[in-house]
Amino acid sequence: MSKKETNIKKEVKDKPVKGEALKQFKKDLKDQKNLTKINSKKILKGEVVTTENHKPNTEDNIIELVNVQKSYITGELETKVLKGVNISFKKGDFIVILGPSGSGKTTLLNIISGLDKTSKGDVFVLGHNLSLLKDSDLTKFRRDHVAFIFQQYNLLTNLTAKENAEVGENLAKVKNDKMTIEDIFETIGMKEQMNKYPHQMSGGQQQRVSIARALSKQPSILFGDEPTGALDEEMGRKVLEILVDVNKKYKTTIIVVTHNPNIADIANTVIHVRNGLIDEVKNNKNPKSPSEIDWS
Ligand SMILES: Nc1ncnc2c1ncn2[C@@H]1O[C@H](COP(=O)(O)OP(=O)(O)O)[C@@H](O)[C@H]1O
Ligand SMILES: [Mg+2]
Repeated sequence: MSKKETNIKKEVKDKPVKGEALKQFKKDLKDQKNLTKINSKKILKGEVVTTENHKPNTEDNIIELVNVQKSYITGELETKVLKGVNISFKKGDFIVILGPSGSGKTTLLNIISGLDKTSKGDVFVLGHNLSLLKDSDLTKFRRDHVAFIFQQYNLLTNLTAKENAEVGENLAKVKNDKMTIEDIFETIGMKEQMNKYPHQMSGGQQQRVSIARALSKQPSILFGDEPTGALDEEMGRKVLEILVDVNKKYKTTIIVVTHNPNIADIANTVIHVRNGLIDEVKNNKNPKSPSEIDWS
């Protein structure tokens, strides 16, 4: 086993839960399923439904998590990955989620963004409790409100940069011609490269196109899971600069997951995840610009 794998194991392998606790876990899941059946449509229409007796403050907060737990079941064993996360995020913030490998960052991001579902707890995003949406409504929610960039850029190889960005635009519910594809390529500094194919671009340029694709949906929230993880320093800084610009220019709430503490310096809000819990929340009054942070 490599050193890295050993570390991951240490971070997450808690004592698996058996017996009574496992029974309770299964009951919670069943309750959640029943509530989903009754409430999914109502939630998508804007009704607030809670399992934790909580009323979200949708004026100020774009996201509120209440007692969010996520477990994976293998046979008769439950492994807890998130162990009761309580946190809220302000509208328009630039948030970095920091933590060691295996601490649960991706799991947390996937739950906040509607890619995955919590086992227990409330996940309010734009007032919708995602923990009680059925899969098809969760897909609708993602399509209408959020966008993603990943470590791997996931561009379609037979489409140009512009056409790749248009894939995002075509998915958007509200067609708003205030922000054209041309404007977006201006923002990412790639107006000259709009007609290039992915193989004609560097990794950094491809990642910028994936940001263009995300922006063309005009999402309320842009999620990035290790978005600079595959990039060298110069391209990594460039991508972060674009994210900061987007946050300022379009007021898009941005949530970036990274294991690189240097990147946290550009955020307004920094969340430390450790062993499935929020360890620390820090507010940065004067975030650094991506050109000022250390890089190593
Ligand atoms: N589908 C899954 N099934 C079982 N365990 C999982 C699954 N996904 C994640 N885990 C566990 O959760 C831990 C945290 O994973 P992850 O959220 O990807 O951490 P991070 O992004 O911080 O590296 C993993 O190390 C793994 O043990
Ligand atoms: Mg991860």
